[in-house]
Amino acid sequence: MSWFPRDQWYVAAYGSEIAHDLFTRTVCGEPILFWRTRDGSVTAMPDRCVHRRFPLSQPPSRLVDDQVVCGYHGFTYDSGGKCVAVPGQARIPRTARLLPYPVVEQDSFVWVFIGDPANADASRIPRAPWLVDPGYTTVCGMEPLGARYGLLVDNLLDLSHETYLHGGYIGTPEVASTPINTSVDEDAGVISVSRRMDDAECPPFYSKSTGLQGRIARWQDIEYMPPCLYTLHSRIAPVGSVPRADGTDPDAFHVEVVYAITPETETSTHDFWAVARDFALGDEEVSAFLAESNRTVVLQDVEALNVLEKVIAAEPEGFQELSINIDTGGLAARRVLGRLCEKS
Ligand code: FES
Ligand SMILES: [Fe+2]
Repeated sequence: MSWFPRDQWYVAAYGSEIAHDLFTRTVCGEPILFWRTRDGSVTAMPDRCVHRRFPLSQPPSRLVDDQVVCGYHGFTYDSGGKCVAVPGQARIPRTARLLPYPVVEQDSFVWVFIGDPANADASRIPRAPWLVDPGYTTVCGMEPLGARYGLLVDNLLDLSHETYLHGGYIGTPEVASTPINTSVDEDAGVISVSRRMDDAECPPFYSKSTGLQGRIARWQDIEYMPPCLYTLHSRIAPVGSVPRADGTDPDAFHVEVVYAITPETETSTHDFWAVARDFALGDEEVSAFLAESNRTVVLQDVEALNVLEKVIAAEPEGFQELSINIDTGGLAARRVLGRLCEKS
């Protein structure tokens, strides 16, 4: 059994991170080399020369037009991973080839398929359309996490921790005290956790960005699409306001909080986060505030989960956790991830 689900799409980067330049990131234990070719598409191949394993992202390896030249002895590969030159001989060995990863750019992310490329079906990539929708303004980032990805899944599926870990930013007493509803759609592969607070304190994250004063209706509707994509549909409105029968919701402020949870190694994770809002569009002050606040919140989680990873590493075999109602979403996610890992 693999420690992560194989035959799955994972976010490797934001599209904006990849230019006509060598870029490397490790996904599910596999170091991957990326660059944007002259025609604008993204390549993805193993970041390891077939000759003596030198990383192709490592200087003096270099990109020459759309070919990468290994910095150790000069093996040269084209954008499809085919070796086109070796030193000291005209004959290029048949096996001198880097097997490209299926790669798709969508919703501002670069997705790679980890597993058997024959099983790569791009229609299975979960969507986060707000991140590229002109009706939203998005801020985003990525923080390295020194903990296994399952700890981040637990963390994001139980938002009651906001009250304690993120007090003064997004946490208020009502988050922890309001019960949740959890459901699992096995066919669609979606875990949903919903918490509806009808009369709650407005945390600074939302009062400063929306300008709403006083108490609010605050809805948190999570959809987790294992293994990689997590969305939190956050609705903030004056107390008593509900969406209209026709589905419009003019009195509310909507924030789509998106996380891509990408295992780097067995005990480290790429924590991609994005916050898309449908108000104060293009307002740079609001963008700067939300970016700074959300990054602070993410770093509070990172600090806590880094500690947890160390606790787990040091504890005796067989330690039993205690779970309660707030853990229902996290436990459902563990079951689904466990099943996906078993198949891998
Ligand atoms: S290791 Fe790349 S050419 Fe020798
Ligand atoms: Fe958190």
